[in-house]
Amino acid sequence: MLSVKNLIDTNSLTADDITQILDTAASFEQVNSRAIKKVPALRGRTIVNLFLEPSTRTRSSFELAEKRLSADALNMGGSTSSVVKGESLADTIQTIDAMNVDMFICRAKLAGTPQKISENTDAVVINAGDGKHQHPTQAMLDLYTIRKNFGHLDGLKVAIVGDLKHSRVCGSLAPALKTMGADVTLVAPPTFQVDDPQWFGCSQTSRLDDVLEDMDVVYMLRVQLERMEGAAIPSRREYNRLYGLDEAREKRMKPEAIVCHPGPMNRGMEINTEVADCARSRILDQVNAGVLTRMAEMYLLLGGENNGVSA
Ligand code: CP
Repeated sequence: MLSVKNLIDTNSLTADDITQILDTAASFEQVNSRAIKKVPALRGRTIVNLFLEPSTRTRSSFELAEKRLSADALNMGGSTSSVVKGESLADTIQTIDAMNVDMFICRAKLAGTPQKISENTDAVVINAGDGKHQHPTQAMLDLYTIRKNFGHLDGLKVAIVGDLKHSRVCGSLAPALKTMGADVTLVAPPTFQVDDPQWFGCSQTSRLDDVLEDMDVVYMLRVQLERMEGAAIPSRREYNRLYGLDEAREKRMKPEAIVCHPGPMNRGMEINTEVADCARSRILDQVNAGVLTRMAEMYLLLGGENNGVSA
């Protein structure tokens, strides 16, 4: 069992929680490789997918994970709910809660929305990305991918590169990596650096070329153009020159080092096509791990083996 009721952020997760999620996800590998990809683990459970902001990877992998666990899913978007008529979030959640659902999965533009939902329901809440705050299920799939590649997480040198300031991915990934004993270096232009206390324990630099050759994992962040106010970077081309992972930089990485990116990518900005699609890229492995780790999170948070049905 996990030590948390809800999965809102990674700061609340212990190393044991993260290990349970990754080990349970690994046990679902064989389910996902079968012709019939379904187990009865969450049969009779009702999960609400409340996506108030666009998503391709997170939404589709949660929906697939629910189907593979035999859960019943209710899909809600902001534009098709009574939120557009002015209903408050609290009223919406209490209304759905009155129908006896078991779990809310929430993606929202506004940071703090999943926490607010948890204050209006006894159902379990999973944060599927809230504003610039956190994206904990992205961090779990990232850790799964990295652990599967190296066999461990402790002692690995990981650079998280780019738009730290607007990134909920970094907000979840950096603390989770630290909890698992990795050595995290944050790399960003001065306008994208963060000065929040949660980054204590991570090294920081604005010079990618100084640290690149020492890293086991180079994790490129999407430049969050939609979350920017004003011009934080000079130009796409200049950003690519200073911070983009191009073929010349890729060739300087350690032979066994890997490249990750959460998607969606700005090809030609933070990462060039020849690197996104090269042998060291684990970007599609990350997508694959998204289904496994989200199955594990829902399974564990809804009672796991105590459901009376094992995975
Ligand atoms: N990485 C990620 O959250 O992608 P989506 O926005 O497509 O879900």
